[in-house]
Amino acid sequence: MSVSETKKTSKSSTSNSYAKQVDSILDLMTLEEKLGQLNLPSSGDITTGQAQSSDIAKKIEEGKVGGLFNIKTVAKIKAVQKIAVEKSRLGIPLIFGMDVIHGYKSTFPIPLGLSSSWDMEMIEKTARIAAIEASADGINWTFSPMVDISRDPRWGRVSEGNGEDPYLGSQISRAMVRGYQQDDLSANNTLMSCVKHFALYGAPEAGRDYNTVDMSRIRMYNEYLAPYKAAVDEGVGSVMASFNEIDGIPATGNKWLLTDLLREDWGFDGFVVTDYTGINEMMAHGMGDLQQVSAMALNAGVDMDMVGEGLLTTLKKSLEDGTITMDAIDTAVKRILTAKYQLGLFEDPYRYCDENRAESEVFTPEHKAFARKVAAESMVLLKNEEQLLPLKKSGTIALVGPLANTSVNMAGTWSVATDQEKSNSFLDGLKQVVGEKANILYAKGSNLDYDLELEKRATMFGKDIPRDGRSDQQLLDEALAIAKKSDVILAAIGESAEFSGESSSRTDLGIPQVQKDLLNALLKTGKPVVLVLFTGRPLVLVEENENVPAILNVWFPGSEAGLAISDVLFGDVNPSGKLTATFPRNVGQVPIFYNHKNTGRPIGNSEGKFEKFKSNYLDVRNEPLYPFGYGLSYTTFDYSNLTLSTTNMNMDGEIKVSVDVTNSGNYDGKEVVQLYIRDLVGSVTRPVRELKGFQKVDIKKGETKTIDFKLTTEDLKFYNSSLDFVAEPGTFQVFVGSDSNAPLTKEFKLSK
Ligand code: BGC
Repeated sequence: MSVSETKKTSKSSTSNSYAKQVDSILDLMTLEEKLGQLNLPSSGDITTGQAQSSDIAKKIEEGKVGGLFNIKTVAKIKAVQKIAVEKSRLGIPLIFGMDVIHGYKSTFPIPLGLSSSWDMEMIEKTARIAAIEASADGINWTFSPMVDISRDPRWGRVSEGNGEDPYLGSQISRAMVRGYQQDDLSANNTLMSCVKHFALYGAPEAGRDYNTVDMSRIRMYNEYLAPYKAAVDEGVGSVMASFNEIDGIPATGNKWLLTDLLREDWGFDGFVVTDYTGINEMMAHGMGDLQQVSAMALNAGVDMDMVGEGLLTTLKKSLEDGTITMDAIDTAVKRILTAKYQLGLFEDPYRYCDENRAESEVFTPEHKAFARKVAAESMVLLKNEEQLLPLKKSGTIALVGPLANTSVNMAGTWSVATDQEKSNSFLDGLKQVVGEKANILYAKGSNLDYDLELEKRATMFGKDIPRDGRSDQQLLDEALAIAKKSDVILAAIGESAEFSGESSSRTDLGIPQVQKDLLNALLKTGKPVVLVLFTGRPLVLVEENENVPAILNVWFPGSEAGLAISDVLFGDVNPSGKLTATFPRNVGQVPIFYNHKNTGRPIGNSEGKFEKFKSNYLDVRNEPLYPFGYGLSYTTFDYSNLTLSTTNMNMDGEIKVSVDVTNSGNYDGKEVVQLYIRDLVGSVTRPVRELKGFQKVDIKKGETKTIDFKLTTEDLKFYNSSLDFVAEPGTFQVFVGSDSNAPLTKEFKLSK
């Protein structure tokens, strides 16, 4: 009997509604077939990590595969699905996953960049477009959103997340899940989302990838867990366990994390997949042999094993030994089958295999136009002395730097589906946008790094910046020659795409020295220089901030990079991005973040003067170079009239906070109005500021808009030392402004 005889009867996507059908399939399954459902090999299209799977077709036929990832195109996926449906004994369809992280073929900025837009509607739409494109290519499951809070720019995967703030991170988490899943997982143009990496993966010791995480529960609950929970609250279909350990137990084998917290406290009812070989890696963590760690993972709450095949190959023996139960296996299998029901795969295994969609729905002019808009909205203007920007489309413009003429680096890290050579480079985009109006001269100026080995590591996966055979001096001379002929110099420098991302941690957060030398030589010409900064992380830019008149941080803008950068440089788009991760003054300040606690010895001056026996450094001031929430515009915004609707609020009350924002400059613009609070006295120490609201608003030049926020008791709650989520009576400060240093402030009291 095949499962096609147990078709779904309900359209509802809640897991319970499929219980009967799932049970009836389970009754038909052998132990081997059950374990097969828990197995997720990589198709081998791309590889990460150490393990490789082979002979996949044969395994599928034998019912030893539950899903496949890193495979794309309807033709390929249909062929593989056919094997599962027609050749395996029960004909259970496969689920097809992929890392669709920031777009599919139409590629949006890296997530850290995207988060800098602070535009939830736009972010949701990027996920929506990613879902349309990926599902048109046969995929139905994405390993996104990545919502790991990180306060450590040494960690390369800071590029893949949404920065340091749990409130903003939670909003983005929800927006992404909504964009992917909508409210109908079985629609052929939605994807099941997988929130990752659960949990705390963004807080590895010393910023080194995969490293130990050791964190108090109170910090976890108050500062790190919210974005994962937000995804669960939004109905995310799956969760990926992280590589790191928590409380001495790797997340993949951590029952407290995967069952007590995730399922019992938060009510998650989807399935949990490991990260790439996450089970096997528990051996190196020192948790036992493959037999032991696989049983441990299942007992902790893992349902699907990515690549490592520990569950597939060892659980039979563990069952005989009594270290696991059939019930635990059945529970995991049921969750996988339920997901397949939710996706509509039992009704039609080829639901996502419409040959006609890709042609008309992938990398369309509309999607590309949107990607261009999103990229421009994500850029952050860090400095703009004497209004050097926007530039005029006239005269002679020198474009210099190793990032100027590379299309393959523009999509940034984790853009596995993108056709990277189709992204427009800065040079291409610039030429298109200025047309005949200005003369563009280009020179590479320098290699990416003096160190050839480092350069190779930072340009993997086809993201080459071919090393120029000429000497450093020859490259520089060529750049200086065109610089001298120009009215303005655009320096396209910073990191390459693979300088950040997985396994790309750095201990030096500067722009590579060879590029700094190039920049300094360009500055010496006396011509105005705009630093167009490419980066996947917060960098140390103290010297640049000191010496370069204008700095535009463009992150990795995606497939429409060059056009979007040019839109901003010439003022066709007024920049409105705001940093979601603090930019430190040096590596020694890391971890540095705006929502820190006070010490018992805070410094008493705001000028950064050293005070003995106070909490400060001998050699550098405490504040970062650019704070969280920071970003300039071509216009200026003035804040006034901060008012609270009441200064006394009780537990079931609310406060309206209003502020007037005036566009006092010469351009129409967008401002991200930010609201922070401080709980002055608590049963546990409270952060000096916490983001609790933001609005991105269009304000025309000369116009004043009144912006209203609502605060309720929910916004004032935190986890106390018993880990109860409470609001405590007392005095709160409210701050409203254009970044996390917002100076306008008022107080109110919360009473019982
Ligand atoms: C990464 C995950 C990713 C997985 C599958 C791992 O190396 O940590 O983020 O989803 O590979 O490609």
